[in-house]
Amino acid sequence: EGQTPAKGISYSFEGPFGTFDRAQLQRGYKVYKEVCSNCHSMHYVSFRNLSQPGGPEFSDEQVKAVAAGYTMQDGPNDQGEMFERTGLPSDRFPSPFPNEQAARVANGGAYPPDLSLITKYRPGWYGTFNQLFNGIGGPQYVYSVLTGYVPDEQVPEELKKEQPEGKHYNPYFANGHWIGMPPPLTDDQVTYDDGTKATVDQMARDVSAFLAWTAEPKMEERKRTGFMVMIFLGILALLLYLVKKKVWADVH
Ligand code: HEM
Repeated sequence: EGQTPAKGISYSFEGPFGTFDRAQLQRGYKVYKEVCSNCHSMHYVSFRNLSQPGGPEFSDEQVKAVAAGYTMQDGPNDQGEMFERTGLPSDRFPSPFPNEQAARVANGGAYPPDLSLITKYRPGWYGTFNQLFNGIGGPQYVYSVLTGYVPDEQVPEELKKEQPEGKHYNPYFANGHWIGMPPPLTDDQVTYDDGTKATVDQMARDVSAFLAWTAEPKMEERKRTGFMVMIFLGILALLLYLVKKKVWADVH
């Protein structure tokens, strides 16, 4: 049985001029923090990144408040002791579990992967297809997993017979349709600060957009630079053409 291609939803940040939707990234951050971070780490993201240009662009004060909401393990100090301290903007998001073994024990043997770079993952041939023709692929995969659960009572009988203990049927999951992640989202699970209604679909769009930013925080800068390079090459080509005409003008 083959994999199910990711749903082809579109995002504001597709295409050569696409940019992130700040409000969407701020909402997506809230979903990560209140839901996903209970099980998934986001090791490559620091609190201070949340205020940098090209991302959710929270204010410095908001970032300080976010960081201060965490207690970090630190040490050893000059006495050789480990200690706890309040989070700083330069800290990274802490992991929910001390290590992979502890994470597996808490999740029925399955390992919740780090989400920093999850949208770089475009499973299967259709991942490449999606990337080329249908947007980006990675965020669509995350969106599809989050919205693709089949409720236990709707799983066909012949499949149910094979249901592993504690796994849920999700045709979008790239590793065999039975996923160890319980459906993480239910309607109104978070309360959005901008008044957007928190449906499962909305939260899945927002958090997958947020994770596209964590995976490529310099995307907007890259696209701007690319555009400038194209203009530069255009002008250079024109100049070269004119120079060539002049240099060869007397050759018949
Ligand atoms: C797997 C995202 C919340 C536990 C995954 C995968 C994604 C994902 C994309 C699949 C990775 C792959 O293809 O290998 C998210 C997001 C969440 C969220 C965006 C928040 C909206 C949670 C929560 C838990 C959890 C709250 C724990 C209760 C797991 C586990 C796996 C997993 C155990 C591994 C499943 C397996 O290998 O069978 N998650 N997750 N996730 N997630 Fe989550």
